[in-house]
Amino acid sequence: TLAVAAGLASSALAMDKIKIGFSQGTMESSWRVNMVEGNRKWAEANLPDVELLITNGENNASKQVSDVESLMAQGVKTLIISPVTADALTPVVKQAMEAGIPVVTLDRKVNTDVTLHIGADNVLIGKTAGEFVCKELGGKGNVIEIQGTAGASATIDRHDAFHAALAANCPDVKVVADQVANYVREPAIKFMEDMLQRFGAGEIDLVYAHNDDMALGAVTALEAAGRLEEVKVVGIDGENAAYDAIKEGKMVATFTYHFVAPEGVQYGYKVAKGETFDQEIILPTHQVDASNVDQWLGKGF
Ligand code: AHR
Repeated sequence: TLAVAAGLASSALAMDKIKIGFSQGTMESSWRVNMVEGNRKWAEANLPDVELLITNGENNASKQVSDVESLMAQGVKTLIISPVTADALTPVVKQAMEAGIPVVTLDRKVNTDVTLHIGADNVLIGKTAGEFVCKELGGKGNVIEIQGTAGASATIDRHDAFHAALAANCPDVKVVADQVANYVREPAIKFMEDMLQRFGAGEIDLVYAHNDDMALGAVTALEAAGRLEEVKVVGIDGENAAYDAIKEGKMVATFTYHFVAPEGVQYGYKVAKGETFDQEIILPTHQVDASNVDQWLGKGF
């Protein structure tokens, strides 16, 4: 009887908890592991009344849509979503909002209104990166662009704003080749190896990668070919390995990109409790280059 009573008491406690769903789009990069772990640990330490249900979309938008559907079926009070791609996740987000389940998107966006979006400004990052590249190349040169996941809002913004900045400030800087490498290092290494076959000495001046994992992949390929001296490399995220690479002269810049922890779950909780906010919270981003890297060493992830 005691065991039954204890069981009933604990299930009553579990029932009292507020269920919050956290649908992560992919866990391939350490940036995303930090996002999930940072939010999970903060919830564990600070929100005893919350049951955080975490899913991993494995960089597959259909898998992430089913994850969100399953979280809704489990009765979550609020959904926190970092969407793989905007278009694919938009219908299920609409459905959740229409069903009265508030949605907080983190880092990447969808194409419909949500309760709250929290993340750094990728348009600003792309624009600042473009302006930096114009100066770094003295207004003329050839760039290779390694893109993140196609259809992700971060990828679209980092691409469009970068190209707009080149067109406005240095039309003689040309992007001579680009490819999607899904924010992952291995395909970036492979693509860069191919580019080093295609373009001879002096034909590539700079690599602009949409994150540090891919920028560091480009560094690996350039070093292996003995051509790192010829080519400057720019990344995004603020990995410690990228700061080290800047310090050693292997990369020229990166841009810090907040992994939205613990803010994701902090605000997810407030929203679940009925608090209201403006539609967007924009987190800061910083340019890190040779001039200020010393103050960033070891402070990334
Ligand atoms: O959506 C943005 C990107 O996703 C981060 O910059 C990247 O590292 C992550 O996988």
